[in-house]
Formats: sequence, C-alpha cells, structure tokens
Amino acid sequence: MYRKVFISGVSGFIGRTLGSYLCNRNYTVYGLSRDPQKTSDETDKRIQLLPWLGDDENWIHDIDQSSVFIHLAGSNISTHRWSDRIKNQIRSSRVLTGKYLVQLFKQNNKYPGLFLQASAIGYYGNVSEGLVDESSPKGAGFLADTSSEWENSTKELENAGIKRHVLRIGMVLGRDGGALPKLVLPQKYFLGAYFGSGSQGISWIHLNDLAGVIGHLIENESELSIFNLTAPKPVSNKNFCKIVGKVIKRPCLFKLPAKILEIILGEMGRELILNGAFVHPQAVLKTGYEFKYPELYDALSNLLLKS
Ligand SMILES: NC(=O)c1ccc[n+]([C@@H]2O[C@H](COP(=O)([O-])OP(=O)(O)OC[C@H]3O[C@@H](n4cnc5c(N)ncnc54)[C@H](OP(=O)(O)O)[C@@H]3O)[C@@H](O)[C@H]2O)c1
Repeated sequence: MYRKVFISGVSGFIGRTLGSYLCNRNYTVYGLSRDPQKTSDETDKRIQLLPWLGDDENWIHDIDQSSVFIHLAGSNISTHRWSDRIKNQIRSSRVLTGKYLVQLFKQNNKYPGLFLQASAIGYYGNVSEGLVDESSPKGAGFLADTSSEWENSTKELENAGIKRHVLRIGMVLGRDGGALPKLVLPQKYFLGAYFGSGSQGISWIHLNDLAGVIGHLIENESELSIFNLTAPKPVSNKNFCKIVGKVIKRPCLFKLPAKILEIILGEMGRELILNGAFVHPQAVLKTGYEFKYPELYDALSNLLLKS
C-alpha cells in the first residue's frame, strides 16, 4: 500500500541501514539531511537525499497517503558529557523538529499515510525489577522526560487522523556504529568489565531486526500505537559482558564501580550506563514479527565474528 518512505536523520547509524533495507524492499526512499552533500558519501546511492530544516522544503509536495515518514533525527546522546547546553541540544533537536514537521504538514495540507515517531526505552527510566512493557509508566530522569516530550511532539498528527506509531528503541547493536564497538573494544584487550552492580537491564536489538520490525510495521496494519523495539531476551549488564566474552573469547574480569563512572561521565554515565530496564517487545510480538536474533549470543556472533 505504501510506496514512498521519507526518513529524517537518514545519515545516522540506524538511518543508513534502514534506508538500504527499504530500498531492497522496493520502496522509493527519500532521505532528509541538514547537509545532503556531506551525507551523500555515507548513504546508499539509491536513496534520494533532500535538504531539510532550511528554507527549501520542496519535498513536502511529494508527501501523500502512499508515503511513510520515519522521524529519526536528533543530536547524538553519547558523544558529549551532558552539560546544560548539550542537554538542550539533545532535547530541542528532537522535540522542536517534531513540532516543525507537524506545522509543515499542516501548512501545506500534505500528510503521510503513516508516521513513525522514534523514541527510546529511556522513557521507562531505571527499573530494577520485573519486565517492562508498553503499558509501563514513564520513569524519572532526563532521558525519560526527553523521550516523553519527543513522543508528544508529533501526537497532534493523530487528531488529524494520521496513523502514528511510536517506536521505543532499545540499544541497537550493529557493526559500524552505536554502542557495541565502544563496549567491546576494552574487552578485546582483556579489559572486559561490567558497570556498577552489573544487575541493571540491557535491552538490546540487532540492527537487522530493527530494520525488519520497521519494515513489518509498514507492511502489516496494526491497531497498536506504541512499540518497544527490543529483542525478546534482555540481559543484565554483567551477563552482557560475559556473553561478549564467550563470543570473542576474552573474559569479563573487572567491575567498574558506579562512583568512578559518575565522576568521569556525570549524569550521562548514570542514565546511560548505570540505569537500565528489562524491556519486553510485547506489541511487536503481537504483530507476528519473528526476530532473526532473539538471543544475544547469536546477535553478537553475527556482529563480532568474521564470517
Ligand atoms: N542507536 C541507538 O542505539 C538508539 C537507541 C534508542 C533511540 N535511538 C534514536 O534513534 C534515532 C537515530 O539513532 P542513530 O543511532 O541513527 O543516531 P545518529 O547516528 O546520531 O544519527 C542521527 C541523525 O540525526 C541528525 N541530527 C543530528 N543532530 C541533529 C540536530 N541538531 N537537528 C536535526 N537533526 C540532527 C543527523 O543527520 P543529518 O546530519 O544528516 O541531518 C544524524 O545523522 C536517534 O534520535 C536516537 O536517539 C537510537
């Protein structure tokens, strides 16, 4: 039913793979970037790159009911320590761009048939016990507040009758980006460590499954509106380190105390590394999607071992 897909933040770690995946499924893919020229070396040549967040939003005239809009754009949350300025950038690059899109659709009376709003499992905050699903409440902290505002920034589209899904994305595991290469590097040199108590949940998803779930949601109507994009078997931080160790044959020997992480990374270290939740993808499983990598060992073997 849908033929065209517009992706904001297409030049990012997720956008690049998702764009190629959707091209392979024969969609016409338009990638929105603040700097299409710079982005063109990094993205699949089949993706038509278009400028946005400037004066020239001509692409809006190509939006119609056969279009899906996937809103991924946002400044990276782990490249800088969280000063007030960085936190403001993280928040505004998500919330203001969401509001901007709603205004643009409204002004031009051009709406996509389906809008996919990225969010993050940071929405649930730090949950130490039990499984979290889509009905679980919002947690506390900067990531929870930002995720909630980010989700709400495009909620108005639902009033205009536009189908909208919110995607609460877990820690995406891929070869060339995201958290995995940084997490594995010390362990390669026999410095494998878990963080704090090591009992905090890591809710991960293989990048191929992330693209697979999004393709599945585009191709299969669902009445549900909020989806946790995580694999069905989250693990504790300590087990994550141990399973990496099994795959690359390097032990997880050390524990990095919470206090040290907090001193080095501040609030960012606390929220991104010391906090966690065991998130269950209940809604995705209800749609009938079958995960290619439900087990962390298999996902890591695929990503970390040469085939
Ligand atoms: N990777 C994960 O594990 C993960 C987990 C949960 C949620 N997410 C969310 O999913 C989205 C995509 O993730 P990703 O890992 O692909 O992120 P990424 O690699 O950091 O890419 C995000 C893209 O957003 C655009 N962007 C950056 N700063 C911006 C700003 N100030 N204003 C507007 N656009 C800006 C950039 O595209 P241009 O420079 O081309 O405009 C960039 O390529 C993000 O919003 C992220 O928070 C990711």
